[in-house]
Amino acid sequence: MRTQVAIIGGGPAGLLLSQILHHQGIDTVVLERRSRAYVLSRIRAGVLEASFADLMRAAGASERMDGKGIVHEGANIAHPDGMFRIDFRALTGGNVVIYGQTELTLDLYDARDATGGTTFDNCSGVELHDIDSTAPYVTFCHGGQDHRLDCDFIAGCDGFHGPSRQAIPEDRRTEFEKTYPFGWLGLLSETPPVADELIYASSARGFALCSMRGPNLSRYYIQCPLSDDPEDWPDDKFWRELRRRLPDTVAEQLISGVSVEKSIAPLRSFVCEPMQWGRLYLCGDAAHIVPPTGAKGLNAAASDVRDLSQAFLSHYRDGDGHALEHYSSTALARIWKTQRFSWWMTNLLHRFPEQSGFDQKMQQAQLNQLAVNSSAQRVFAENYVGLAL
Ligand code: APR
Ligand code: PHB
Repeated sequence: MRTQVAIIGGGPAGLLLSQILHHQGIDTVVLERRSRAYVLSRIRAGVLEASFADLMRAAGASERMDGKGIVHEGANIAHPDGMFRIDFRALTGGNVVIYGQTELTLDLYDARDATGGTTFDNCSGVELHDIDSTAPYVTFCHGGQDHRLDCDFIAGCDGFHGPSRQAIPEDRRTEFEKTYPFGWLGLLSETPPVADELIYASSARGFALCSMRGPNLSRYYIQCPLSDDPEDWPDDKFWRELRRRLPDTVAEQLISGVSVEKSIAPLRSFVCEPMQWGRLYLCGDAAHIVPPTGAKGLNAAASDVRDLSQAFLSHYRDGDGHALEHYSSTALARIWKTQRFSWWMTNLLHRFPEQSGFDQKMQQAQLNQLAVNSSAQRVFAENYVGLAL
């Protein structure tokens, strides 16, 4: 079997890349370890930068998103001294679109099916070969049979635990990592969201977030110890704790209900340098992870896809390999800015176990400045809606 670009991983990054390349006339094969049902069951953030929405259009997968996505022109920040709104439109002219990753992945799968693209789900034993030669290939097992996929290039879109990053020789890559001493306990419920826009809350009891997926589907999070298990958090206990972390005026409005899903996610900042090796290019979580504060994970993956698809287009259409050669440095310059914002927002809003009284005063001073200072708000808003790069 032969293709131009072998894509390892059928998460949002791999699917988006395959569809954009398809529309540019570039042939791809997607290899995914899991079943579709499993990929679709993963609940992740659903805040899309405007440039992400443009990519979904380029992938021919934007119809439902354009109809059902909710445009947000601001977000709220609650803290012990009050609550304030950051007005994205007034400060930057931009906005974000609220659209869940489950829906988005489904739209990309549908688009792939409609265009007849080749995807192998449930494949195992994916291995990359000869990536530093001009004839790389991938081997894998599907339906009980061994396969070999020859290609011009490999896109490693296989997430944090996939084999692609490991295929870069260990002495030729550097991994930068920071873990945080808490997790996020998330709960999905079929209840109307407590507010029209997101509320990020810093409280003496820890961080909380009020988010949404639709008019009757809410997503809430609270910071919790990493040692906790979702079983430790019956719904009642979750709602009680959430209310205690929100301003009274918000807590009074909160409509609770039975949880549809509940899970705990650790928080991590991670970057692998470089993001390419020979004919292998890493995209999305395979190369970098951000903590969820600010919802940048999916958007960072999409920006990689944009840069890489443009680089492939220059190569195939114009015979110009410059952008491919520089993919890693272009992507990393952007990624470190995204890392900084996600790290900063995480530090601003969470309680840390070892935090001193001074550290808490510094958080408060930053929040108080953000509450009143339009320059500080503009920097926040520019990062939140997505930096022009
Ligand atoms: N072989 C084939 N596929 C694999 C392998 C493997 N050995 N290992 C992992 N995969 C698949 C996973 O099953 C998953 O479907 O790669 C896919 C990677 O998807 P994500 O982890 O979602 O990563 P990515 O597509 O980069 O998504 C970027 O979306 O899901 C969020 O947290 C994620 O915010 C990030 C963004
Ligand atoms: C979510 O809706 O799941 C969400 C929203 C904003 C974040 C993180 C997660 O910063």
